[in-house]
Amino acid sequence: MTADRSCLAIVLAAGEGTRMHSGRQKVLHAVAGRSMLAHTLSAVRLAGGDAIAVVVGPSADDVVLETKRVAPGAEVFVQDKRLGTAHAVLAARQALARGPDDILVVFADTPVLRPDTLRRMREALSQGAALVVLGFRAKDPSGYGRLIVREGELVAIREELDANASERQIDLCNAGMMAFAGARALPVLDAIGCENKKSEFYLTDAVGIVRAQGGKVVIVNAEEDEVRGVNTKRQLAETEAALQQRLRAAALEAGVTLVAPETTFLAADTKFGRDVLIEPFVVFGPGVTVGDNAVIRSFSHIDHATIGRGASVGPYARLRPGARLEENVHIGNFVEVKEAVIEAGAKANHLSYIGDARVGAGANVGAGTITCNYDGFAKHLTDIGSEAFIGSNSALVAPVKIGDRAYVGSGSVITGDVPADALALGRGRQTVKEGWAKRLRALRGFKVSKKGA
Ligand code: UD1
Ligand code: CA
Repeated sequence: MTADRSCLAIVLAAGEGTRMHSGRQKVLHAVAGRSMLAHTLSAVRLAGGDAIAVVVGPSADDVVLETKRVAPGAEVFVQDKRLGTAHAVLAARQALARGPDDILVVFADTPVLRPDTLRRMREALSQGAALVVLGFRAKDPSGYGRLIVREGELVAIREELDANASERQIDLCNAGMMAFAGARALPVLDAIGCENKKSEFYLTDAVGIVRAQGGKVVIVNAEEDEVRGVNTKRQLAETEAALQQRLRAAALEAGVTLVAPETTFLAADTKFGRDVLIEPFVVFGPGVTVGDNAVIRSFSHIDHATIGRGASVGPYARLRPGARLEENVHIGNFVEVKEAVIEAGAKANHLSYIGDARVGAGANVGAGTITCNYDGFAKHLTDIGSEAFIGSNSALVAPVKIGDRAYVGSGSVITGDVPADALALGRGRQTVKEGWAKRLRALRGFKVSKKGA
């Protein structure tokens, strides 16, 4: 029903977040591996926001960069002075003036909002509401604007500071998100004044103005977990926890086996195939795809990596950005992989660093093998052929190429290319001096044990 209506989403992202005690802008703090701003932008897009306006504070270059990265088509408007939420919305006046059918106002510090909730708000607009307010029942309502309902109708929103004692008892609160019928929005916003304790232009005053103009005001309800606003680091942590719960539930619902779900940490974009098994204590950063039947064992940390079908990772593995494991690859304990393709069936089971490399299909990388990819100035490639066998504790000094089916003897330092099917040894030759130890002991006057005599 809302599909044929144009929709402008105004995302309010101004404010440095002083209560976060951080040098970083508040909306750039991450939950589930993605900035709060990125979560919000993705929610409004999924709700059908075909035009997006982001309102930022002055000197917020980082916020502008993140906006452009996530939503290149979004327009950025600067609110030069922080004079309140209605003032912030009006910073996007140019976009409002284009007369979209629906206008969504969304706070970028409320990252767990579901697109479906925004869709429900638009739905109410399509049924004739002039203004839709998102409400929720707060366990502790302090700090929130209270929804004043008379005879079933929302008549006002009272900010905590302006509320009297009995209004403060109300637990039905304003989540902050609003939807306006586009045609009437600008005159309503322009009519908002700043007669309140904070002398700010409150978006919430739109309720009374719309009613005075004869417009219909409607409340759409949401769960508290979904409308958590983040003003402090504690709230950031609580929001992270709420989002993790939701992501775990979705993964379980989709058939992923999480042995101890409360110890699995997911990113908002983690993708799983069928019959994936995740052992306890695994952390997924952003950009991870896990193929069918893969097993991720305990204490692994995975970030911007692709894990192929039937692969086995960990325990204690670290897959860093650009790690691409093809099917049935084994990456074992204390193995770090970065910017490397590990082709089908290859194995690196113990104590290795594989960076800027290709490991050919079926190759075996022995314990303690290191690709020496960095010379202090630049990174270089290591190319290991298919079915190659790298003996334990070898250092492959890049750029270097090991041919298909070649062997590298244990403990080698390989600085030159190795042809296919060859054996390369790059280590001191072993010498054996018969009886040497015995002579030493005698020389030093040590007692020789019976066994050794
Ligand atoms: C606001 C609501 C309150 C609601 C609560 C829900 C108003 C007046 N109050 O209060 O009813 O219960 O959210 O979390 O709307 N912002 C700007 N420019 C400004 C002021 C704010 O861009 O001049 C942005 C902030 O970055 C933030 C959002 O608007 O993303 C909300 O502002 P904030 O100061 O956090 O409002 P609250 O006091 O939480
Ligand atoms: Ca807030």
